Order: sequence, then structure tokens, then C-alpha cells
Amino acid sequence: LHTSLSRDEKLLNICQLLSESIPYYNWVGFYFANHDSKTLHLGPYVGAETDHIVIPFGKGICGQVAESNTNFVVPDVSAQDNYIACSFTVKSEIVVPLFVDGKNIGQIDIDSHVVNPFTAKDERFLEFVCAEIANLY
Ligand code: SME
Repeated sequence: LHTSLSRDEKLLNICQLLSESIPYYNWVGFYFANHDSKTLHLGPYVGAETDHIVIPFGKGICGQVAESNTNFVVPDVSAQDNYIACSFTVKSEIVVPLFVDGKNIGQIDIDSHVVNPFTAKDERFLEFVCAEIANLY
């Protein structure tokens, strides 16, 4: 019997691998864009449960990346005014868009419990991860 993982199962495995491998990746998840309703929808994730299942474009770090199509690194979330807090334990965040055939279809979102952990290396690494994920589409 041959079974294969669904795309969501693969994405969940990626979340698990990233959060277990990198100590400062404390919440790892995906949001996917609905370009008609201009909203982001929570996909597979690992970490604390979140109330933010749907995020309008433009709102929070995630919503801003849905419109800017560029990485957003937040060294200290307390310094951001357009920010949606999930948990008081979160100190910093990185969001990298996921492009499929040049279209921003969603993003990987990572929260950290430490201030200022993300470097250009994280950006390059997560861009690589997103480029690999694009091959699942
Ligand atoms: N902090 C995000 C909201 C999503 S949670 O981090 C899971 C934001 O400001 O968009």
C-alpha cells in the first residue's frame, strides 16, 4: 500500500522541523491569501493556539506582507503599532511571502520569544524554504 502526504501534512511537517531545529523559532505557521476577499487564512502551524484565523490584508505584520510582497522582520514587536499580538511571550517576528508563479499566495510566519534573533541568514533560509514549498503547487 502506497500512501503519500497531503500538502497540508507536508506543510505541518515543515513547521515541526523548523520549530524543533531552530531554538528561537517558537511559533511557525502559514497563512494563505484569498485575493477576492483580501484576507489571509491560517494554515498548518505549530506553537501556541492563536485566535487569528483570518487576518485582513493590511492588518498586522502578516496583513502588511500580503500587500507589500516583501519580507518583514520585526526585531521587537513592542515597537510596532500595526501589529496583532498573539501572546505576551512573543517578542519578535519574521514573515516571508510565498510566491507561486510570481504570485504572492501566502506566507510563512515565525514568532520568537527573544528580542532581535532574526538575521539576513534567516531571510535567505526562509526564502529558500518558500521556494521549495512553491514546488508543491
Ligand atoms: N503577529 C501577527 C499575527 C499572527 S500571529 O503572530 C500567529 C501579525 O501581526 O500579523
